[in-house]
Amino acid sequence: MRGKTVIVSGGGSNIGYGISLAFAEEAVNLVIGDIDEAQARKVARKAQALGAQALAVKCDARENDQVSAMVKKALDEFKEVDVLVNVVGGASDYGLPFTEKPRESWRSDLDLNIISFLNCTRAVLDHMIERKRGSVVSIASEAQKHGEPGLSIYNGAKAAIIAMTRTLAREYGEHGIRFNVIAPGIILPTSDEEMGELNGWRSGLGLSLRGSDFEATMVARCAIKRLGRPGDIGKAAVFLASECAGYITGQTLSVTGGMIG
Ligand SMILES: NC(=O)c1ccc[n+]([C@@H]2O[C@H](COP(=O)([O-])OP(=O)(O)OC[C@H]3O[C@@H](n4cnc5c(N)ncnc54)[C@H](O)[C@@H]3O)[C@@H](O)[C@H]2O)c1
Repeated sequence: MRGKTVIVSGGGSNIGYGISLAFAEEAVNLVIGDIDEAQARKVARKAQALGAQALAVKCDARENDQVSAMVKKALDEFKEVDVLVNVVGGASDYGLPFTEKPRESWRSDLDLNIISFLNCTRAVLDHMIERKRGSVVSIASEAQKHGEPGLSIYNGAKAAIIAMTRTLAREYGEHGIRFNVIAPGIILPTSDEEMGELNGWRSGLGLSLRGSDFEATMVARCAIKRLGRPGDIGKAAVFLASECAGYITGQTLSVTGGMIG
């Protein structure tokens, strides 16, 4: 993938961190868009040390103006965009059953997961259609497949990303553009390095989950007896974005260590 231009939206922490650095190892031109500018800059420096050209851009993916500005910066700097990776997403009321979720969180979770995906995908498509090539990889979640309790809105949003990806793959396949999804299982950061100061994993769960009962329960559900690491998703994203996956589109790849419901 040397010399290709890759935008990772939400490329600063945890899964985004793993994806950014996996592409950096391929010596790409990397644009790390993230609401946490300090962390995006930190990852850009690491990416440069690995041989990539890297640009950090402060961008709230829910805001279309900011997304357009990020894509413009990518084009100004690197002239083209070959790959978009949509990482931004999350659940605000993890664990609460539907009737206990505050109504405000319905819209905020849909915005974070779906509107971010739509803004970023729409922002690169005209350019990709014009060039007749491109690849979009989006991060959903294995939780939607099992109907994981406590994640009703989030699971619906991730299922929507999978459904839209299938349709986009059929609409734009003739333009040389592929769309795929990765459905991660449980992916925990392994060090503070992989999280920005503001990141939810740092303040709430994150490293404290390592060695906990939660980890043991989750590992028991996996065929490969460990939880996922950010780099596991990074490698899968590079594969789906690359020509190695040139005949794969509209698909969802589970990267879960063989997790079952
Ligand atoms: N971690 C897991 O176990 C897991 C499992 C399945 C799916 N996922 C999905 O993978 C993706 C990444 O998860 P994570 O745990 O690494 O998340 P995370 O909370 O670490 O956030 C990822 C990055 O997105 C950035 N970000 C947050 N809001 C943003 C916004 N509005 N605009 C731009 N950037 C923003 C954060 O600063 C961070 O760098 C999400 O879509 C999540 O739903 C995660």
